[in-house]
Amino acid sequence: MDYKKTVAQRIKQLVELDIETIESLIEIPPKPEMGEFAFPCFQLSKVMRKAPNMIAKDLKEKIEKDGFEKIECFGPYLNFFLDKGAFIKNTVEKILDEGDNYGSSKIGEGKNIVVEYSSPNIAKPFHVGHLFTTVIGNSLYKILSFEGYNCTGINHLGDWGTQFGKLIYAYKNWVDEDALVSEPIKELLRIYVKFHEEADLDPTLNEQAKMYFKKLEDGCDEEVELWTKFRDVSLVEFKKLYETLNVKFDSYAGESFYCDKMDDIIKDIDAKGLLVDSNGAKVVMLDEYNIPPCIIKKSDGATIYATRDLAAATYRKKTYDFHKNIYVVGKDQALHFKQVFTTLKLMGNKWADDCVHVPFGTVRFADKKLSTRKGDVIFLDELLNQAVAKTLEVINEKNPELENKEDVAKKVGIGAIVFTYLKNHRERDIVFNWEEMLSFDGETGPYVQYTYARAKSILRKVEETSKNNETDIELDYNKLNSKEEFELVKQLEGFQKSILFAIDKLEPSMVTRYVIDVAKAFNKFYNQYNISNLKDEADKKAKIKMVEATCQVIKNALGLIGIEVVDRM
Ligand code: ARG
Repeated sequence: MDYKKTVAQRIKQLVELDIETIESLIEIPPKPEMGEFAFPCFQLSKVMRKAPNMIAKDLKEKIEKDGFEKIECFGPYLNFFLDKGAFIKNTVEKILDEGDNYGSSKIGEGKNIVVEYSSPNIAKPFHVGHLFTTVIGNSLYKILSFEGYNCTGINHLGDWGTQFGKLIYAYKNWVDEDALVSEPIKELLRIYVKFHEEADLDPTLNEQAKMYFKKLEDGCDEEVELWTKFRDVSLVEFKKLYETLNVKFDSYAGESFYCDKMDDIIKDIDAKGLLVDSNGAKVVMLDEYNIPPCIIKKSDGATIYATRDLAAATYRKKTYDFHKNIYVVGKDQALHFKQVFTTLKLMGNKWADDCVHVPFGTVRFADKKLSTRKGDVIFLDELLNQAVAKTLEVINEKNPELENKEDVAKKVGIGAIVFTYLKNHRERDIVFNWEEMLSFDGETGPYVQYTYARAKSILRKVEETSKNNETDIELDYNKLNSKEEFELVKQLEGFQKSILFAIDKLEPSMVTRYVIDVAKAFNKFYNQYNISNLKDEADKKAKIKMVEATCQVIKNALGLIGIEVVDRM
């Protein structure tokens, strides 16, 4: 039962306000002593020409109280106190009943959503910024699917563009074939960086690179063959990372996929009278929107990034008939997406309004800058390996006897990184700090996972002892009458609300914050009782159900942000 709705419906029977207004007025009181919901009577006072205190008193007399422990007035407020026993019973039973589906719904049924994420660039390392889009996108995909949306995950690989002309030049002049086999991306990066250094000294290199890219766009054999090679070796590396992270895509249609689809777009733009000549280049003017023009074709005839995005969006609409087309891309590309979406709109596509840029902040590691041009980058595989190694150290210290240590260290270590990314509002910049990230207390992945493992260990312990002495004591949720228990169940009950909030704001951190709160509430409860040694069997049984329910909710919530739980750590 949705308690807020029930409160609103009861009030609705007595007053002249519509249900949406009532719901929007309902507040959560600041203290538990004031109940779970409060309805302020100020607005009614204007309509009814009566003091709000009086209205509250009146409502208190008349309102249906069934299902609530009590309903009280606090001045101009009408406050509702849940019947705790019934609330706890309903919530815990619902969680255990629905299991892995607890929190899900069919709200999105019949709606298609395209989620584009990760989209690294071929022949360049996958860096910590790409990891940001990967984990946000992966989580949004999971969250939306959980609520019934039909999602398509797309990896819009950066596998086309003038940089391939540079790479072809660099390859022909400087490649070390052995290195290309053993560490392909590092070698491609090395020669790419070298290209920029050399081109600084001799700008004619840029002309050569342009020429090679033109040949590539024209489909010349040698250039296409080299490009395929760069793409293949890069993809092998990227897919290793996706496997480690357990991230999947439904499509790898990258920029090159749109090569043969751009002519139509350009013709369409031209036919609509939007294509303007600007110093030999073709552009769409966006002055009236106060943004620089969207460049469609460069003066040498080469198409660019934006043209491919125009083709991609059009293709996605045709292929997936999206309700929303989401781009999880860094905030430094905000202008680019504004230009693309505005151009689509000018072309007469109403659906341009359904295209959404979901930006995120920058990532730093202490003071290292993350730029591919200078080659001074943190490689992601190194980052992940370090997280796993450091977690293993902690496990060796805390629980050296643990089985499957490597597997646990992998899930917890990588989970710690994912958690760090998704912990705060996505537009906030992140500074990585190992100690903070891997700590078992504080708002971290390991803290939540450790909470889960501890809960699981109580369940194991109790199961062990009850094997020996079967009791048929009946379960009685009324035994759960402490403040800690009620607070925990209130948290557990709020899972779906946090998911819907996350969808509304396209903000996985709402789920991350939620699971932190659940873990905190659980630990308060857990520290209060020595559950496995409780003498009152009925009480123990009820508490165990609550531990089970908590495990289920933590597992579901972490799953939505792309983290796997471990039973022991
Ligand atoms: N490959 C680009 C980069 O690494 C991101 C692609 C973003 N997606 C898009 N549809 N433009 O910066």
